[in-house]
Amino acid sequence: MALIDKIKTKACADVKRIVLPEGEEERNVQAAAKIVQAGIAKLTLLGNPDTTKAVAAKFGVDLSGIDIVNPKTSDKAEAYAQALAEIRKAKGMTIEQARDLVADPMYYGVMMVKSGDADGLVSGAIHATGDMLRPALQIIKAKPGMKTVSSCFLMECPDKSQGEDGVMIFADCAVIPCPTAEELANIALGAADSARSLAGMEPKVAMLSFSTKGSAKHELVTKVQEATRIAQELAPELELDGELQLDAALVESVGQLKSPGSKVAGHANTLVFPDLQSGNIGYKLVQRLAGAEAYGPVLQGIAKPCNDLSRGCSVDDIVAMVAITAVQAQG
Ligand code: ACO
Repeated sequence: MALIDKIKTKACADVKRIVLPEGEEERNVQAAAKIVQAGIAKLTLLGNPDTTKAVAAKFGVDLSGIDIVNPKTSDKAEAYAQALAEIRKAKGMTIEQARDLVADPMYYGVMMVKSGDADGLVSGAIHATGDMLRPALQIIKAKPGMKTVSSCFLMECPDKSQGEDGVMIFADCAVIPCPTAEELANIALGAADSARSLAGMEPKVAMLSFSTKGSAKHELVTKVQEATRIAQELAPELELDGELQLDAALVESVGQLKSPGSKVAGHANTLVFPDLQSGNIGYKLVQRLAGAEAYGPVLQGIAKPCNDLSRGCSVDDIVAMVAITAVQAQG
C-alpha cells in the first residue's frame, strides 16, 4: 500500500477535527467534501458561509457534516481575542489588536487549535509560507522539550531499495533558513519523531554535509559536526551519524568505506540537510528527477499540528495534508 494510503487509513481509525482557514477557496471546498466522505477527519471551514456554499454549488459537492464558521461573526471570537491578547501581552498586544487579528481566518484557526476546539490546521493554498507559519509559531509554539519548530517532507521514491521500502524523511526543507548547530540538532530530533509517527519506521538519521568524518575542513562542516554531537547527547539511543556526504549516507559500499562500523552510513532513511537552501533544493531534485512523491512541508517540533500547503496545490494534495495532520494530532 502506498504511504499516503496508509496514512489515510490511520487517520480514519481515530478521527480528529481539522480547521481549514481558507474555507472559501475552491480547492479547499472540494477537498473538504472528499475528506469527510472518506471519514479522514471532521472539518471546520472558516469564511463567509454564503460564499463557501456558493463554491460548493458551483462544483456540485456536498458539505453536509462540515462546520462552516465566519470568524467575523462567531460567538467564540471574543474569547479567542482575550486569550490571544493574554498570550501576546509581553509583546505589547492590546485587546483591540487581538480582536482585529481573530477576525482573520488564519489567526482564528490557530486560536481554535490553541484552545482545543480543533486538533490541527491546514492552510497555505492562498497564503505564502511565512504568513501561515508566523501565527502558528507565535501562538502554538514548540512542543515541550523542543526549542525549534522545523519541517520535513515525506518522500516516497520509486527505487524501493532506498530508505524503508522507498520511504524517507528529508528535513528541514521549509522553515529555518540558516540553522545554528543547536537548531540543526533539534531538526534531527524532530525528523526522527516524524519518521516514527508518520512513516512508522525506526529512524536512521544522517547529518549531511559535503564532508564525511572530517574529510574536509570548513566552518560549515564544523557546524554539522557540532550539531551531531548535540543531537547524540540529547538522544543517545537514536541511530544518528554525521557528518556524512549523501553517498556515504545512502550507498552501503561508500558508507562502509568512509564511515566504517556506522549503523547509519549506507542505510539512512532520515536525511538532515545542513541548511534550507540544500534541503529545499534537495527534495525538489528527488521529486523532479527521480519521480518521488513528496508530501509536505510537515511541521515538526510544534506543540499542535499546523501544516502549510503549496499555493500550486491540488485538491488531492489538500486531502493528503489533512490526513497527515490528523495522524500527527493522534500523537
Ligand atoms: N521555531 C520556533 N519558533 C520560531 C521559529 C522556529 N523555527 N522561527 C521563529 N519563531 C518564533 C520567534 O521566536 C517569534 O516568537 P515571538 O514573537 O513569540 O518572539 C515568532 O516565531 C516570529 O518570529 P520572527 O523571527 O519575527 O519571524 P520571521 O519573520 O523570521 O519568520 C519564519 C519566521 C516565517 C519561519 C521565517 O523563518 C521564514 O520565512 N522561513 C522560510 C519560509 C519559506 O519561505 N520557506 C520556503 C518555501 S516552502 C517550500 O518550498 C515547500
